[in-house]
Amino acid sequence: MDAKPLFLYALCGSQRKVSTNRRLLEALRDHAPAGVTIEICDLIGDLPIFNPDREGAQTPEIVERLGAKMRAADGVIVACPEYAHGLPGGLKNALDWLVSRDEVPFKPVMIAHASHRGDFALAQLSEVLKTMSFDIVEEAHLRLGLLGKDEAAQAAVLDAAVRKGDILNALAKFCDHIRKNILDERS
Ligand SMILES: Cc1cc2nc3c(=O)[nH]c(=O)nc-3n(C[C@H](O)[C@H](O)[C@H](O)COP(=O)(O)O)c2cc1C
Repeated sequence: MDAKPLFLYALCGSQRKVSTNRRLLEALRDHAPAGVTIEICDLIGDLPIFNPDREGAQTPEIVERLGAKMRAADGVIVACPEYAHGLPGGLKNALDWLVSRDEVPFKPVMIAHASHRGDFALAQLSEVLKTMSFDIVEEAHLRLGLLGKDEAAQAAVLDAAVRKGDILNALAKFCDHIRKNILDERS
């Protein structure tokens, strides 16, 4: 039987045009295994600041769109830089909008990171995702050192990761975990 097609939704914590984290997510998207579609979220920069008074019937339409993508996703990928030893505010804001909604609990999540630095942000990200009841798939964690490299050097790091199979392996582990969960739920 063919494996179930999967839809993965990727959240990027950087709004920079030449973001290394976005580049890493694009490499994951472009080298996804057959049957796996990855879409990079383009809503984070336009979300209003989270306000619990605007939940329920008052929820902004863009937040409903984010929620619908999260609901449709079989899994989520998050990549973000570290700002002042913490999470980027825009990403935290997007996650805050999702805390009280029902799309997230038990949703598998893979953390990707485009820097050899940023351990404070990674620790905070894990804590926040765990607190939101995401299912963090540790074996799919992917970390590549793109920070501080020019365009060509970044491409070389990504090409090497593709050749060595690091990108495909991380995605394969993530997708195996998701598919196993789906089978377990059915049995
Ligand atoms: C305002 C600001 C604060 C930063 N703070 C940190 C920091 O605390 N630790 C760190 O390792 N890098 C820090 N950086 C560097 C970024 O994490 C780094 O440039 C990262 O690669 C940016 O990701 P991007 O390429 O996806 O935008 C900071 C950058 C900015 C702009």
